[in-house]
Amino acid sequence: MHNKKTSNNKNTSAFGTDHMTKKEDFKIKASSALIGLATIFLVLSSNISQADEAYFNANVVPQLAQHTCATCHVGQYIRPRVFEYRELLPYLAMGTARDNNVLIAKMTNARHLLPDVASHPGGQKCSSKDVEPCATFMKWWDEEFKK
Ligand code: HEC
Repeated sequence: MHNKKTSNNKNTSAFGTDHMTKKEDFKIKASSALIGLATIFLVLSSNISQADEAYFNANVVPQLAQHTCATCHVGQYIRPRVFEYRELLPYLAMGTARDNNVLIAKMTNARHLLPDVASHPGGQKCSSKDVEPCATFMKWWDEEFKK
């Protein structure tokens, strides 16, 4: 009887301590795992995009400025914010080739289901894919994807 009680008490307190330790252990492990993940993410994302973003800023942005995209795409009103690398990139990335992607299709007013509806609501921006700013968009595609 006496023994059983003692051992019960022991178990309870042992469980209590054990529980706390495990919880704290988990907290420490979880937070170091998070820090590890965050570091990996930061390293990856900076390695992947830094050079390409610099290319975008040096080569694509001047073309956007020259072709008056800012008239409509600056500020909060009309998305995407085309001067932001991460906002314009998805349009370039959707497609299969330098001259077959959503950005080129919109800018040349190609491929709309309804022929009388503009593919880009802001109008056709390249009379053909080989003139600016589309020529630069195709070079940008090479920079991003032809590696
Ligand atoms: C006359 C105003 C105007 C100009 C100038 C203009 N756009 Fe737009 N653009 C729009 C509007 C309006 C939309 C549609 C926004 C929406 O659907 O919310 C749009 C949408 C877009 C989209 C997204 C298309 C989609 O279907 O989601 C891209 C990419 C884009 N414009 C790129 C450009 C680029 C690059 C330039 C300069 C070469 C430019 N635009 C110039 C008005 C303009």
